[in-house]
Amino acid sequence: MTNNLIDILQLSTEEIDALIATALDIIDKPGKYAEACRGKKLATLFFEPSTRTRLSFEAAMYELGGNVLGFSDSKSSSSSKGESVSDTVRAVSCYADIIAMRHPKEGAPLVATRKSSVPVINAGDGGHNHPTQTLADLLTIYREKGSFENLTIGLCGDLKFGRTVHSLISAMSRYKGVRFVLISPEELTVPRYIITDVLEAREIEYKEVRSLEDSIPELDILYMTRVQRERFFNEADYLRLKDTYILTPDKLNSAKSDLTIMHPLPRVNEISVAVDDDPRACYFKQVLNGKYMRMALILKLLEVEL
Ligand code: CP
Repeated sequence: MTNNLIDILQLSTEEIDALIATALDIIDKPGKYAEACRGKKLATLFFEPSTRTRLSFEAAMYELGGNVLGFSDSKSSSSSKGESVSDTVRAVSCYADIIAMRHPKEGAPLVATRKSSVPVINAGDGGHNHPTQTLADLLTIYREKGSFENLTIGLCGDLKFGRTVHSLISAMSRYKGVRFVLISPEELTVPRYIITDVLEAREIEYKEVRSLEDSIPELDILYMTRVQRERFFNEADYLRLKDTYILTPDKLNSAKSDLTIMHPLPRVNEISVAVDDDPRACYFKQVLNGKYMRMALILKLLEVEL
């Protein structure tokens, strides 16, 4: 792969395995990595709000002994004066060794790679992709299931604008015996290009359904998502759709005892807090796994040898 991460498919399954091995080693021996990025700087350029992605990148770099600079609000950067993404990145790559960028425009991090002299990581571009959330998701699946094969994965909620869903389908479609149950309202189905270019092109078994309750019993993984208010043109449509699916403890009565319940977070209303105490709830484990996988990714992109 190039020394950027814009799309999860830039990483082969072997490279994913290697990142997971590094993350597990970091969990086991954090002291071994404490000086790995001494003298290196990560820039976090967040043109859109974030809690987990930005702070986990920053925590990752600090735990590797490096430093962090950046902005969390485009209004405090010169983009508010009309500066282009290309010029911003060209400037920032004079100061930093690696850049993590979130932007509301699909493709903005890819554009950034053309002007950056340092590696660029896509930290979420519009409703398109979110590859480092997928790295967090993959480590969570690996730690919970021990394998990526022979899993029935239910993806529920806003499958149209939910960028984490798009990246996860791409990543998981490469493993044997994976099938998808795509649970969404008619208006928020998975984009056609993912159906044709990923699922049908690879002959992956999938079905598109409306009912969460009917789907739960067959699932090994249930990946809930938030309806992405910020991507709607019409507030009335958001209000009509936002509570279509709410996971509650009673709906889990028919679920497998080893179901893995995931959510990229932030959650609004789609998982009741009463589910948090269920041992099958893994969404806060995903948050922590995200930091370890971002540490592993920074080491890889900076070609740090220990
Ligand atoms: N999962 C995720 O991207 O969360 P944030 O928006 O808080 O970064």
